[in-house]
Amino acid sequence: MENPFVSTETETSVLTPEALGKEIFEGKGMCATCHKADVETSGPSIKDISKIYTDKKASISLFLQGEMDPIVDPSQYEIMKANLEITKAMTEAELQALETYMLSIK
Ligand code: HEC
Repeated sequence: MENPFVSTETETSVLTPEALGKEIFEGKGMCATCHKADVETSGPSIKDISKIYTDKKASISLFLQGEMDPIVDPSQYEIMKANLEITKAMTEAELQALETYMLSIK
């Protein structure tokens, strides 16, 4: 008989970091309410964030842990700052997945 626990485990590990990142971004992270792929809405577009972080070789994951000052739009940081309460509670793997997903949008 198939063990349901094992099969769930397999599915989770099959998800690429990019796919997991997208799932968190649009799901429990609720990031997509303010960040669209390539248009600026309440927050900068993912494309703009991705470009700046790639150019500056900065770490999105460190920013989301509250260990780095904002480099995209410091004047709007107060709005973003509230979300760090959510991301600070995430695991290293979840943060890396978010970073991989965001940097994949160019
Ligand atoms: C209520 C709207 C809102 C939500 C929700 C939101 N953001 Fe933001 N975010 C902003 C705004 C506004 C900025 C621009 C200010 C800034 O650069 O810090 C920003 C900036 C950023 C930056 C660039 C920071 C920098 O270096 O300046 C990253 C990375 C980011 N958001 C990721 C996320 C992720 C991941 C989530 C979901 C966990 C999220 N945001 C949810 C509004 C939001």
